[in-house]
Amino acid sequence: MKYLFLAVIFLFNLSSSIAQNNPYGASDAQDQPTLKAILPFPIGVAVGIRHFRNNPVYRNLVKEQFNSITAENVMKFKALHPSEHTFTFKSADEIVAFAQENNMRVHGHTLIWSKVNPPWVKEFKGDKTAWKNLLKNHIQTIVKHFKGKVRSWDVVNEAYNDGGKLKESIWLEKIGPEYIELAFRYAHEADPDALLFYNDYGHEYLGKRIYAIINMAKDFKKRGVPIHGLGMQMHIPLRLEDTKIRRSIEMAASTGLLVHLSEVEISVKHQMPKVFRMDDQLARQQADKYKALFKAYSSIPKSQQFGITTWNLGDADSFRNSKGPNHDHPMMFDRQYRPKPAFKAVIEAWKSNKGQ
Ligand code: G3I
Repeated sequence: MKYLFLAVIFLFNLSSSIAQNNPYGASDAQDQPTLKAILPFPIGVAVGIRHFRNNPVYRNLVKEQFNSITAENVMKFKALHPSEHTFTFKSADEIVAFAQENNMRVHGHTLIWSKVNPPWVKEFKGDKTAWKNLLKNHIQTIVKHFKGKVRSWDVVNEAYNDGGKLKESIWLEKIGPEYIELAFRYAHEADPDALLFYNDYGHEYLGKRIYAIINMAKDFKKRGVPIHGLGMQMHIPLRLEDTKIRRSIEMAASTGLLVHLSEVEISVKHQMPKVFRMDDQLARQQADKYKALFKAYSSIPKSQQFGITTWNLGDADSFRNSKGPNHDHPMMFDRQYRPKPAFKAVIEAWKSNKGQ
């Protein structure tokens, strides 16, 4: 009996070590071209400062595969402007310096997002003029600091709710709906060469939000408000239909603005049973979804292709990563930073020119 128990343990360890060596078709990238070499538009990655500082495998893969970089958190309001009269740029400057050393574009995320206001903003006291000056000083101090180093900005992030109305926020309360337009004007004054984006999620569900965003964009263009692009985050579940994804990208492109798929990741766990297990079939379905997303994007006018940015690098640094074995697996690289079928599917789509 004891030997049977030991044999079972041995076989379990053997199978899990084989799975570990090649989970879901992951393989080394050496024999593949890189994403930045093969894609006809910029390909970016959202970088977390902790992984960036501590993991050489992570840093090397970022510079090997990507030509654009977004700071996941260190360019947000509470990271850069932690108290009313203090700006802290150290961490953000580290990422910008790395990008410059590696000839990578930097996309700034994000000047205004109510979810990441530091406590002092909520305690600030003043009339409408004082609040507009706060907004202006925040935006212009940051944009001027990065002038010539940060190519583009998410000026305002996630201002609309599912119903296509402006979300409650301190800016809406203290300044009014015009806070969005003012943010764009302030940013443009500080760096007239920077490309300015409105960034949001959920366009691909073709609900009221995408229509509200497109109406705002068209109104801004008509009135000369300096907006240059729309960021479509594309945090999408594996189950979402390709037709909706393609339609939403075409609708954004109908504004004539640049389109940035700004936070791409494809959750395989979303809408799945509670106790979730990744497998080869899901990895293949995810590969097909990544390929469909990239091909839909490449069908809009080339002049509007600002690029695609993945939100995080590998499954282990994904913001969806959870404690314990019940992880999601949303990225093109696995938990050991090896390319998954999704990476190979995107490369293949362009290698054989199928991606056009
Ligand atoms: O740095 C502190 C650390 O000192 C502290 O010990 C720890 C525990 O409280 O918190 C750390 O800060 C966390 C930060 O991520 C850095 O890890 C914040 O609590 C946490 O809220 C923050 O979450 C980020 C979230 O935006 C909110 O800013 C996620 O990493 C980031 O992936 C996520 O990204 C957003 C985009 O900016 C906008 N679109 C949606 C996307 C996903 O939610």
